[in-house]
Amino acid sequence: MGDNKFVKKILCIGAGYVGGPTMTVIANFCPDYHVTVVDISQEKIDRWNSNDLPIYEPGLKERLLKVRGHNLFFSTDIDKGIAEADIIFVSVNTPTKTFGEGAGRAVDLQYIEKTARRIKAHARSDKIVVEKSTIPVRAAETIDKILHSGNNSVKFEILSNPEFMAEGTGIKDMETPDRVLIGSMETPSGIKAREELVKLYEHWVPRENIVTSNLWSSELSKLVSNAFLAQRISSINSIASLCEETGADVHQVARAVGKDSRIGPKFLKAGVGFGGSCFRKDILNMIYLCEHYGLQPVADFWQQVVDLNDYQMRRFVQRILRAMFNSVVDKKIALFGFAFKPDTGDTRDAPAIYISKMLLNERAQLWITDPHALENAKADLEGVDGQVTYEPDPYKAAEGAHTIALITEWEEYRNLDYERIFKSMEKPAFLFDGRNHLDHEALFQIGFNVYPVGKPARTHV
Ligand code: UDX
Ligand code: UDX
Repeated sequence: MGDNKFVKKILCIGAGYVGGPTMTVIANFCPDYHVTVVDISQEKIDRWNSNDLPIYEPGLKERLLKVRGHNLFFSTDIDKGIAEADIIFVSVNTPTKTFGEGAGRAVDLQYIEKTARRIKAHARSDKIVVEKSTIPVRAAETIDKILHSGNNSVKFEILSNPEFMAEGTGIKDMETPDRVLIGSMETPSGIKAREELVKLYEHWVPRENIVTSNLWSSELSKLVSNAFLAQRISSINSIASLCEETGADVHQVARAVGKDSRIGPKFLKAGVGFGGSCFRKDILNMIYLCEHYGLQPVADFWQQVVDLNDYQMRRFVQRILRAMFNSVVDKKIALFGFAFKPDTGDTRDAPAIYISKMLLNERAQLWITDPHALENAKADLEGVDGQVTYEPDPYKAAEGAHTIALITEWEEYRNLDYERIFKSMEKPAFLFDGRNHLDHEALFQIGFNVYPVGKPARTHV
């Protein structure tokens, strides 16, 4: 079969968490499009071409196997891919800068820039370039300047098409999105390019859910979406501290407040704080932008969302200390869960990292258990002073411990035999439920001193 049965050729640069699943879904819904995913990492591409995919997402593998080798291809030949493509998605990573100006806050755009230069060097025909990676507002301008510099007759149209996938539900989020956002320059050629991308998404997304806007709105909307979600978590966590003092129950408050249809019930779960690769990074990036434009009060407002999150993690540790007679020196503490949320082994910016470091600083003996994240936990805590043991079996992690601190709400933690665990622990036995995940009354009846988040403690001591 020749390639000419395809109406368009798509290239995606970056075969990571975003690029791989996104292109798999596109290839499934658009059999008339030829999709190639390229990456600088040979190892990653080899894994995408094998049965051992580099990432786990529910539903990904079945969908990939349906189209791989038909209209979905993985390769390291980036330059050939660029030369042949009509539409190029850029989904290389955009980490927070770790050096120089803006370190710790601004986005490191070196991979985006390198990719733009490579596109320019190998494009021989007009292309649409789509920003999929999350980047600062007006980054498209930089990309545009690079692509149109020098004497090249090739024309590029730049679109912004941010992803809104959450880990663990990435495929579902892509298949039935609340919205697809496409930003473009509002010139005739910009709008024409935008319509090309609308046409692609219309293969499965109803037209009314495809939102179009100018480029800067689209870039900013991605940052704002994550900032608003994180802000809700910090809002409810701030109320959790007030509940603990006043005898109110944060779960009941969230339910009552969330019933107001203007507020809504989602993202109001109090806990030890948010983690993950996006929230902190995107808010810090937005704060950096605000400061760049001299909007200090706006920057300060959003900084509070991050500060409150840090406070929430600190507060969790302080509560442990206070309950345990102000010292955890040499006391065994079992940390239940290390991943930033359940159903993933991902520990990027996980609250467990911060909490572990604080507890180790207090010289506790930490026993960390997690069904999928122990390898990452080891890497995250490498070089940190203190006594840490990594134990896949939660029963062993809790044996002889003074306290259990639940950090990630893995389903299996609900189904453990807590009578058995209680018997094996030092007394008085404490349990800090950082996600309000367990049956607190039952645990109290067994004999535990139970400390939920945002609810009064149930204690025997
Ligand atoms: C994505 C988005 O791109 C990022 O902006 C968002 O904020 C988080 O999610 P993600 O897919 O999670 O990034 O990153 P990662 O899994 O690290 O994948 C990026 C891939 O790009 C890697 O496989 C890397 O090898 C590749 N890459 C990087 C290139 O192919 N070329 C480069 O120049 C740089
Ligand atoms: C997020 C966004 O949801 C997604 O749209 C975006 O594209 C990428 O960033 P993700 O980081 O995968 O996705 O996870 P998410 O489910 O949003 O959870 C983030 C963190 O918030 C987790 O640590 C979670 O435990 C915490 N959280 C979430 C709460 O503490 N309370 C809540 O009510 C919801």
